[in-house]
Amino acid sequence: MPRYPEHLTGEGPVNPFPGIKVLERRIGREIPHRLGSNEGLDMPHRALREHFGDAVTEHVYCYGDSEALGVRQRLSAQQNIPLEHLLVDAGADSLIALALRTTCEAGETVVSTAGTYPTFGYFAQGQGCRLIEPGYLEAPGVLAPDLEALAAAAHQENARLVYLANPDNPSGHLHNDSAILKLRAALPDTCWLLLDEAYGDFRDDANSEFTARALPGVIRLRTLSKAHGLAGLRIGYAIAEPAVLAIMMKVRIHYALSSLTLAAAEVVLDHPEEVRQHIADVKNRREQLAAHFRTLGADVLPSATNFIGIRLPNAELAGRINRELLEAGRLIARPAHPALGHVLRITAVADALEPGQLAILERAIATSP
Ligand SMILES: Cc1ncc(COP(=O)(O)O)c(C=O)c1O
Repeated sequence: MPRYPEHLTGEGPVNPFPGIKVLERRIGREIPHRLGSNEGLDMPHRALREHFGDAVTEHVYCYGDSEALGVRQRLSAQQNIPLEHLLVDAGADSLIALALRTTCEAGETVVSTAGTYPTFGYFAQGQGCRLIEPGYLEAPGVLAPDLEALAAAAHQENARLVYLANPDNPSGHLHNDSAILKLRAALPDTCWLLLDEAYGDFRDDANSEFTARALPGVIRLRTLSKAHGLAGLRIGYAIAEPAVLAIMMKVRIHYALSSLTLAAAEVVLDHPEEVRQHIADVKNRREQLAAHFRTLGADVLPSATNFIGIRLPNAELAGRINRELLEAGRLIARPAHPALGHVLRITAVADALEPGQLAILERAIATSP
């Protein structure tokens, strides 16, 4: 069983402010008069109302539900995930930070692939952890996190946690369910697997029994930033066993989610047909983009996400294309990590498919050896 930091294994810390929604549920009735907190002050908010309208303004007076029950109920019903296996927080990034705070202390070792989603390493180092980064598995048509190398590093370095983005950013690679279970089995018993499934909604098997399951020794993360289009409002969720979530709740910033964010997420989750259509449109555009660049001879990596990765012959060329596109007002993504400097990432938005939009990249591909 993976371990927690010593200071979290006792009784506390106890959240001093569970919030009015939690209190109401505890006593089983509504509390109509808020006379003891700094919420609901009598400010008319004329300027806000004028700018955003009454419906939005009604949400600004009070803290959000610290247990995010409405959102969890909807996620649970739609994906068949038990309610007690769900924790909601301010985006997958916040959940990465929360998972690190829950599992690691300064000086402990964590492992992730060199060049994968960089926020994990950034947060881990900010928390004083030692970061070990095995390289990607590279072969013709393949750029994938190397699961054997991750497990080997975890053993060699006595790691407390291994991070894996699946599907991966920026390669787009998806490891299948049995590979994930094999990785978990190959890790030391005392090591956590932080499984970042921010792109999980774009998997073709997004709603399988496996994707809904809390796995022992694993903290899974998802986001409403991508398929649900709520990046600016900051909301995501973790799937883990209740005992793990209980420790996460001890160190979670309890009001990190605004009441506006929770309300907006509930509205979007109540319209799953819109989300489904968006996912279908994104996948369709992704395949069009991939086909277009493959026709030009580009090494387009298979992707289970909302973007395509293109592998260039070298980092200098990728850097030059990226700079020239930026100068021409077109922002694509290039990993900052030198290990993946030869990869460019293009999001499957309609704008990317406009003829001529990526002409600089097309020309470079056509003329590169
Ligand atoms: C792999 C991965 N994890 C996490 C995130 C962050 O998601 P959020 O907006 O929910 O913080 C991203 C965003 O691009 C991502 O690519």
